[in-house]
Amino acid sequence: MSIARSENAALHVVCDAVADSARRTAETYGGRALTDPLEAIRADGVEAVVIASPTPTHVELLSAAIEAGVGALCEKPIDLDIARVDALRERARSAPAPVMLGFNRRFDPHFAELHRRVAAGEIGRLEHLAVTSRDPEPAPDAYIATSGGIFRDMTIHDLDMARWFVPEVTSVSAVGFRQFSAGIAGLGDYDAAVLTLTGAGGESVVITNSRHSAYGYDQRLEAFGPDGLLQVGNVTETAVRAWGAAAVEATGPYQRFFLERYSAAYALELEAFVRAVRGEDVAYPGFEDGRAALLLADAAGVSAREGRAVNVDLTA
Ligand SMILES: NC(=O)c1ccc[n+]([C@@H]2O[C@H](COP(=O)([O-])OP(=O)(O)OC[C@H]3O[C@@H](n4cnc5c(N)ncnc54)[C@H](O)[C@@H]3O)[C@@H](O)[C@H]2O)c1
Repeated sequence: MSIARSENAALHVVCDAVADSARRTAETYGGRALTDPLEAIRADGVEAVVIASPTPTHVELLSAAIEAGVGALCEKPIDLDIARVDALRERARSAPAPVMLGFNRRFDPHFAELHRRVAAGEIGRLEHLAVTSRDPEPAPDAYIATSGGIFRDMTIHDLDMARWFVPEVTSVSAVGFRQFSAGIAGLGDYDAAVLTLTGAGGESVVITNSRHSAYGYDQRLEAFGPDGLLQVGNVTETAVRAWGAAAVEATGPYQRFFLERYSAAYALELEAFVRAVRGEDVAYPGFEDGRAALLLADAAGVSAREGRAVNVDLTA
């Protein structure tokens, strides 16, 4: 949808392994329907591709995009296996066209403004970042079973948020919890987690995750420094507030889940990608950011399992 709506891009090809899905999407948004992603990547006239297929397909498709010399916007994570990511690292580094990772939260206008104001020095040198991320309800057990676990599937977004502010994280301490889902516990995964990260400059970052939240999708960010605090709260469906006998300052629910809460972010992410492909100088999360977030997620897994802080070296 973002591609079709963009004034700076044209949708040439829609590819889905399920032919009917490809056909319906092409009928709605335009483009030629294909079922073979390699054919789509190599099709005449294609300058860039968005890879939003399941995680196990990313490395092969990214590789093909780099080889074909087309830009690639690839969903997170790059892969669940850091060895497969590392095997692609050199080629990604020398890719002729931009390789961007789908860390859409960097493009959320609220978070981006907070980031700009921290960078501008409004609160002084950043001392503490608090990232809260709770899903409204857990994904089905079948999804969780192949997701790579909470740290690599869910926390990875928050780990990238942490690195957006504190690029050089040096240690990860994570505690995983099994609080409410027998299904998730049965899969050996956690349904909630709390992480503490340390930055090379002595910064602290706390990430709070849960796979459920009775009040909806909970996405908050707080930055603290010697000169003050900057905070982004949840976004409600309506700006109207009501005062009555039963409740004061009552408002509509929070935007339901990621497609609603981050709709502007997805559109802005796509625009940044298109501008990067056109050769403009834009900031975007790249392959190295995807790799770093996966390294931190893996470190969190070790930390939670072994009950100790894990040192990481993101400079290597
Ligand atoms: N950034 C975000 O906000 C966000 C949100 C959700 C999912 N994701 C990521 O996006 C990716 C896709 O997740 P999903 O839950 O949408 O997956 P999904 O299983 O719903 O698959 C997405 C689409 O890919 C198609 N597909 C499957 N195999 C394919 C192949 N080999 N070639 C072409 N198409 C194929 C499916 O038919 C489906 O239409 C995952 O890597 C996930 O981690 C990112």
